[in-house]
Formats: sequence, structure tokens, C-alpha cells
Amino acid sequence: MAEHPWQRALLSLRYIGSAGARRALLYALVRDAWNRRLPPPKGPWRPVGPPLAMEALPGGARFRFPEAELEALLFPWGLRLTWSPGRLPPSYWNPELSPIEPLREEREGRFALEAQGVRLEVGPEGLRFLRAGRVFRREALPERRKEAWRHRVALAPGERLYGLGSVAAPLDRRGRAYRLWNRDVGGSYGPEEGPLYLTIPVLLSQGPEGGHLVFYENPHEALVDLSQPEEALWTFMGGALRYHLFPGDPKEALSAYTALVGRPPLPPRFALGFHYARWGLSTEEEVREVAEGFLARGLPLSALHLDIDYMEGHRVFTVDRDRFPHLEELVADLRAKGVRTVLILDPGVKAEKGFPPYEEGLREGVFCTLPGGALLKAPVWPGWCAFPDFTHPRARAWWGRWVQTLWRLGVGGFWLDMNEPAAFAAWGDPTFPLPTRHALEGEEGDHRLAHNLYGLLMARATYEALKGETARPFLFSRSGWAGLARYAWNWTGDVESSWPALRRTVGIVLGLGLSGVPYTGSDIGGFSGHPSSELFLRWFQVGAFMPFFRVHSAITTPRREPWRFGEPVLSVVRRFLELRQALLPYLYTLAWEASQTGLPPVRPLFFLDPSAEAEDAFLLGEALLVAPVLEEGVRGRSVPLPRGPWYEFWTDRLLEGPGEVQAEAPLDRIPLFVWGGAALPLLEGEGLTLHLYPDREGRAEGLLYWDEGEGEGPFRLDRFRLEGGRLLWAEEGAYPWPWEGLGVRLHGKELLGAWVEGRWYGAREGRLRLPPFREARLEVKG
Ligand code: NOJ
Repeated sequence: MAEHPWQRALLSLRYIGSAGARRALLYALVRDAWNRRLPPPKGPWRPVGPPLAMEALPGGARFRFPEAELEALLFPWGLRLTWSPGRLPPSYWNPELSPIEPLREEREGRFALEAQGVRLEVGPEGLRFLRAGRVFRREALPERRKEAWRHRVALAPGERLYGLGSVAAPLDRRGRAYRLWNRDVGGSYGPEEGPLYLTIPVLLSQGPEGGHLVFYENPHEALVDLSQPEEALWTFMGGALRYHLFPGDPKEALSAYTALVGRPPLPPRFALGFHYARWGLSTEEEVREVAEGFLARGLPLSALHLDIDYMEGHRVFTVDRDRFPHLEELVADLRAKGVRTVLILDPGVKAEKGFPPYEEGLREGVFCTLPGGALLKAPVWPGWCAFPDFTHPRARAWWGRWVQTLWRLGVGGFWLDMNEPAAFAAWGDPTFPLPTRHALEGEEGDHRLAHNLYGLLMARATYEALKGETARPFLFSRSGWAGLARYAWNWTGDVESSWPALRRTVGIVLGLGLSGVPYTGSDIGGFSGHPSSELFLRWFQVGAFMPFFRVHSAITTPRREPWRFGEPVLSVVRRFLELRQALLPYLYTLAWEASQTGLPPVRPLFFLDPSAEAEDAFLLGEALLVAPVLEEGVRGRSVPLPRGPWYEFWTDRLLEGPGEVQAEAPLDRIPLFVWGGAALPLLEGEGLTLHLYPDREGRAEGLLYWDEGEGEGPFRLDRFRLEGGRLLWAEEGAYPWPWEGLGVRLHGKELLGAWVEGRWYGAREGRLRLPPFREARLEVKG
């Protein structure tokens, strides 16, 4: 565990070597000198004063205060408030907002706006927000200290708060303070950690008075103090204080928020398969050997990732032709075997005379500079580097052209790393100096505003370049901000290999989903350190239910191919890889749903039961409940089941919720439950089987989205409904049904057979295969 700063420094030294350490020392000195020019705002906090007047605006009003102005607009989904002075970031979110006309009230220094049941009250003591007559949020008037803003938001007893992006802390964020400033943790983090790579000022609140989601459209460094029982204190170090409020239950609020910041496009289907990565696969032979290792053992492998080892001296946009002389052939051979190759990209461009991307970037003026115009240089893997300013459209286009050259090698996607942006610094903040200049779409500004947007815009540049090459680019990015899902998936970075860290990753994935980043997963087995067989196996079992299912490990650790752990790990890994394959139609349908609603595939139990608090169990969609094993030596655990009948997946045991149940968890499985009422499509062999798990009334329902798996061709949506012994099948869309008929399995009762258009089809040992039908009448025993 890298718990102490010196332990972490030592670990970093192992990664960057002694020349790297010298650069890191020098860089930290230079950065500190620059940062002294921009000290954080100091002095007293000044209140804005009481509201003085209201002036109507289309869709809302402008309120005047002695020291500030507030613009409030109402929308069908909620409200947007903007306190100024302070500049807004460039608009990277959905600009198509049409406000609705509210009623306006004014009486004795108090004002109100109301539309469609949503009401804002503005008075000398603060703001109140109501929906359907109930207060869902209360705020004190904000205060200003130079360019910083802060305000207090009342918290109700029992109110729970989720979000803030990627945070290594309990899922309910209350009781602590957080800094929102994207940060490379430098090789390892444990279950408790300061800011991670991807912070987002978003909180989903669930309380006795109903819920809402708040998103602050302000990428400056923020401090969110939730340590006090009665109030949250939000501080932003600059910018206008703009926030969007989405009242509603978690699903409603999350889907409205993602409509604003961007929902994830449908990924190519291969992305939902199993990925294998390893820092340190340093030759073509090694890569082939690993791929063969999976295929020869019948272990499905969807993608193999090449880390910085494929580059020449870690220079982005190069291929080391000594170690990867035939990379194109390697990529094509793997592709022919159903394995895509994914290449890592770092934003740092080696600042080296004669290096084409550097020379060209200099000519085109795409790199970040310091005040006075000197190039910003910071050390990362290749040594001193220059960094594209992704807030400039010209830099994005330049980056995109280089990305296309690599794409044309035949690869399946890209892995965007180090984009917090990271710099190797011996101490302090491992990123650019704060005065670093950024174009910010022509509005100009410094790193204080651009920092948290850097990863988002690197993802955008990469995505937009690939959009010209393929309909569904596959990217994943370590850093980002609100709206990342439009361009890229995410992974949770350099988590340490330990049981407490494994436990925490479940909450991190849930928290990211609740922040609008639906596709993520952790390095299976942990990035730094080496897992025991049991830890690896348990981590793998959770990973199989995560949107992004990937094994990855650091160069300093022993190799992590599953067969290196011997038995029983190998057999269990095979079993969970097969289960993942079987679940592909279900996962793909969830991915389609995410593209329509923004809801993440991995969801907290409180989506089904508002009182559920567990973060050691989660839902995959709403048909599956996964209760992973997160402790060594454990062979059974209690599982909090929300309301409804639930079927234990492995045994068909029928259980009633709500309540805690005890489930067995021998090494070869983890507790897994199917919701009674679900029709779950599973791939079995070459065919598709619909597994019916009826509720108490004998009803079950399910949806299936399918298409070619990539491209923009036709799709199909199949809806299945079981009711009164009749199984109904309705289809939509032009993509032909790709399987032979439909397998049907009924759980909880013995299926004898079915009538389809007057013909009898008998079941064999409960298994039934039917030709395509609109209605089948099922016959069961007894
Ligand atoms: C840091 C990333 O988080 C890790 O996944 C990667 O292996 C190393 N950089 C090397 O590229």
C-alpha cells in the first residue's frame, strides 16, 4: 500500500527512474515559481446583500443584489441559476435549451418564479426551490472573495448525497470534504484517497423531501465540504457560479442531467467483451504469445491493449519498429481471430528537435504556452514534453490527424492516459503551472479554468478524428469532466492490489455512473502490487459484471495472465468469461438504453428501493443483482434484496424481498440474483435463449436490442412478455433476427412445451426451441 508520501515517492521512482526523478525535481521548482504569481484568492468573504429588484427575462428573471446579479431560468427539466460577476466556461454542453415562461411574483423584497410545478423563491435569507409544493433545496445567498464564490446548501437529516465523479471514499459523500481538481495519483491509490483523475461537480441528493441533482457548470477547482451535518458548503475558486437543478427521483434527474451534458453513444459491441492489458508487453512476440495463450485455452478475448511499450522511447504517435516491426500484421492477425488491438496515447509530445509531431505542432502553434509566449514543457514518460492545447480547435484538428495515422494501422480503439493533465513533479500538484495559457475556444484563459476540461477535450479531439473513420469510435480516458460519456469510456486508474481497494472500486464505479460516466471498470487484480490467487479471482468475478471488463497491471508487478495463477483460478476465470459472453445481448441492450436515457448499466440498489444503502452489492440493469465477495476467505455472505421475488441465478432458489438473505459464495461463484419478472436474453452456444423468471402472477418482461455490432446499419428491438401462460414477441426495426428460432427456458416451474400456430413443440429437460412467433402458449407441469 502506498499510504505515506515517501512510500508513494519511492514507488514513483521505480516507474520513472533516476533521470526522471531529476526532471521531476526541476519541474516542481519551476512550477512553484510560476504558481506564486497566482496565489489563491484571500481576504474576507463578502455577502452579496439582499435582493433589490427583479427584471423579467424570457423564461425567467434577473435579480439584482448590491454585490451581484442572479439570472434564473426555468426549463421543462428544472432550473438554471447563474450568479455573476465571473466568466463562464466555453459552452461544451447542450446549447439547445429552451426555457419555459414562468409566473413571476414580487412582494416586499421577496420574489418568486414558477412554472410546471417548479418554484424558486428568492428572499433576503436565501433561495428555496420547490416542486409540487415540497421544498427540495434551500440555499443561503452566496458570498464572494475576489474571484471565488461559495454558497451553503441546507442538508436534511437522512438526506444522502452521491456523485462528484471518481472518488475513493464511501458512496454516500456526506461526512467529508472533497477537492475537485483532476489529479494523477502517481502509480497507486488505496481505498481512501484525495481527488482522483476524474472529478465532476455533480451531486445527486436523495432525501425524505424527494430528490434532485445539481450540476455546477464551473470547471474551476472546487472544494465541496460535506463534513457538517446540516449544510453543504461549495466553494469555486473562480468563474461565474452557475448551476443546473434537476428535481426528481434518481432516474429522472440523471436522465435530465445527461441530456444536458451528453449521453454515451452506442459502443461497438466488442467493447463489451473482455479486454486484456499489461504495461510491459514489450515485443510483438510477447503480444502474440499472450493472445495465443487466451485463444488456445478457449478463453474469449475481445481486445488486447498495448501500453506505452509499443512506442519508440515512449514518444506518442511512434511505433518502435525494432520491437514491433510488423505491427500492422500483428493487428490484422489478431483481428482475424476476433481480437481488436487498442493503443495507448499520452498527450505529452516529446520536445525534441526533428521529431515530426513536435516540429509540426510548433509550426502550427498547437502547444500550451506560458505567459510571455514561451512553450510550456513538463516531464512525463518520454522526458521533457510539450502539450497540445485541446481547448483550441486547431490543436484538436492537428491531434486528430496524427490519431488517424495510427487508426489506419487497423487498430480497434484508443486508450487516453495521463490527461489530468499529468506531469512528473517531485512534490505538490502533478500538473501544469496555473498561469499556463489556454485558447478556450478563442476566449483565452489560464490553467485554473482549463485544467479540469483538459481530459474531456483530449477525448473530444480523438473522438472527432475517429468519427471520420468509423461510425462508433471506441475510446477510454483516464481523466474527463461532465460530458465525457459523449466521447469515451473511463477506467479507474492505478488502484492498488488489496482487498479494501477491491471493495472501494465497486463504489467508485457506482459513483461514476451517478455522475454521468456510465462505462467504467477497475484494473482487475489491482494495478500496483500483486494479488493473491483468491484476490485475483474475486476481482475477476466482479469485473465480469462491470461495463468495462479489463485486466491490467503495472510493469513492476508479476505478469497477470489468468493461467499464471493455475487452478482453480483458470477454471473460474473461464466460467466467468463464458458468463460474460452469455450476457452480451443483455449488456448490449443496456448499452442501447444508456444511449437513450443516460442511465448507467451498473446501478445502486436504491434505484429499486429508495431506502437501500448498500455499496457492496449492485444492480446490472434491473434484472440482475450482483453481490460480490470482497473479503478474503469468505464463502458466503448476506445480500440485501430489494422488494420482489428474486431467483438465485445458480440454483433457481426463489427468495422474497425486501430483506437480507444469506447466499453461498464458494470460490467458483458469487451471489447473483435475477429479478422475478424479468425475461433475460442469454447467448447459449450458437443460439439465443430467453430465460423467463416469472413474478408471483406468472408475468415476465424483457427487451433485446441487436444489430451488426458496429456501423450505423439497421437494428432490431424485440420485446418479450409472458402473461397468463402466453409468451408474446413483438419486434421493431429492420435488422433480421440473426439466430435460429428462439430458445425458451422457464425458471421456477417445469416447462413441458409450447403451442405455436397450432403446432406443438415439446421441451426436452425443460429446454425448448421455437421458430419465430408472435404468440406461444406455454404448458407447464402441475
Ligand atoms: C498510468 C496508467 O494509469 C496506467 O494504466 C499505465 O499502465 C501507465 N500510465 C503506463 O502507461
